[in-house]
Amino acid sequence: MTLIRLNKYLSDCGISSRRKSEEYILQGRVSINNKVALDLSAKVDPTNDIVLLDGEKIFQKRKLYILLNKPKGVVTTTIDEKNRKTVVDLIKSRDKIFPVGRLDYNTTGVLILTNDGEFSNFLTHPVKRIPREYEVKLDRTLTGEDKEKLCKGIYIKGVKGKFIKVTLHDKKNWKFVTVIAIEGRNHFVKNMFGALGYTVEALNRKSFAGITADIPVGAYRVLSKDEISGVIKTYGK
Ligand code: URA
Repeated sequence: MTLIRLNKYLSDCGISSRRKSEEYILQGRVSINNKVALDLSAKVDPTNDIVLLDGEKIFQKRKLYILLNKPKGVVTTTIDEKNRKTVVDLIKSRDKIFPVGRLDYNTTGVLILTNDGEFSNFLTHPVKRIPREYEVKLDRTLTGEDKEKLCKGIYIKGVKGKFIKVTLHDKKNWKFVTVIAIEGRNHFVKNMFGALGYTVEALNRKSFAGITADIPVGAYRVLSKDEISGVIKTYGK
């Protein structure tokens, strides 16, 4: 009999990330064998225990990993309170999936969706320093001095952030740049440029964890087991 932590079990069942699952536990929404489980260290025997969330039985599910080339005008969430189209609405799946991290409403490009909370945590954990490559259109040309500042580091809301690489698409037009970030704070790219007085006019995520958008904007495909294990192998340690 293998016992697993309750928050991991919830995330394995595709309920949410481990962190979010802990919130559900503390809110008293989870029970094991008809007893409300408020203890974050509680363990579950997946074959014999009955776990309920909000009174409904949950099951371990097959793991699903999707690459979406996100179009503009779609929110990165599972449900939108303003009833706008969400990234999940674009994908035909019987399984409940959620986006890994977020892209802004008008940002395009690589977005991974999954029901594997552990994989989602892996990709978004700051310590993993997973690279995100963005193509950026600025409102004006980037100066050499500012390019250097972006790579040395800039304080955003009191926390230093930096790009590990800034390249220019065209030596003659420094409005178009490609940057690589290794963190995923909300609006990170816009805030980095915004701190230096630039406006980001268009943003496309070209790759995430080495996975590139090899499909048209708005299309999606299932990521293979090899692609997933490749990511874990590359960024696992
Ligand atoms: N940084 C941003 O500012 N927006 C995004 O959508 C992604 C990264």
